Amino acid sequence: MREVPDFPRPGVVFRDLTPVFSDPDALRAVVDALQDKIHPDTQLVAAIESRGFLLGAALGYGWRYGVVPLRKPGKLPAVAHRVSYDLEYGTATLELPADAITPGQQVVVVDDVLATGGTAAAACSLVERAGGVVTGVSVVLEIPALGGRDRLAGRSVDALISV
Ligand code: PRP
Ligand code: MG
Repeated sequence: MREVPDFPRPGVVFRDLTPVFSDPDALRAVVDALQDKIHPDTQLVAAIESRGFLLGAALGYGWRYGVVPLRKPGKLPAVAHRVSYDLEYGTATLELPADAITPGQQVVVVDDVLATGGTAAAACSLVERAGGVVTGVSVVLEIPALGGRDRLAGRSVDALISV
C-alpha cells in the first residue's frame, strides 16, 4: 500500500492500494481473503466505482456471482436509484443501474477502502431501495479513526486490514 499525504487535498492521507492490485500474488491473496468472509447466501456483488470494480469483477468471475456496478453520476444509461452522501473530502453521488437487482436478492457490497463509510452506506441504501438484501460490506482496508463502521451500524462489515 502507498500512503500519499495531502491527496486529493491538504490534510488527507490517501491510502492507495494500486501496488497491491498490480502484484499478482497480492491481488490473488486479497480477493481470496475477501471471498472467505462473504456470507454463503450471497448471490450478487455490488461493486463501487471505481476501485471496487477491480475487486468485484474478480469475485464475480472467481465464485460465479453476478456483478452490479454502482456508478458515479452521469455514466449509466438507465438509472434505478440515486443516493448522494458526504465523503471524507467533499460530497458524492452513486447510482444503481435499472433492472440490476431483483427483490430479495442477496447482495454483498464490495470496495477497496472504508473510510467515513459514506460511500458504503450509500451503496447499501441503493441495494435496499431496489429490494435487495445486503449480506455484508467487504473491503480490503478500513480506517477505523474515520468511523465508517459506526455509519454502517447493524451491518456485517469485513475488512482485511485496519490502519
Ligand atoms: C475512495 C475509496 C472508497 C471511498 C471510501 O473512493 O475507494 O470508495 O473513497 O471513502 P468513505 O468511506 O469516506 O466514503 P473515491 O471516492 O476516492 O473514488 P475512486 O474509488 O473512484 O478513486
Ligand atoms: Mg472508491
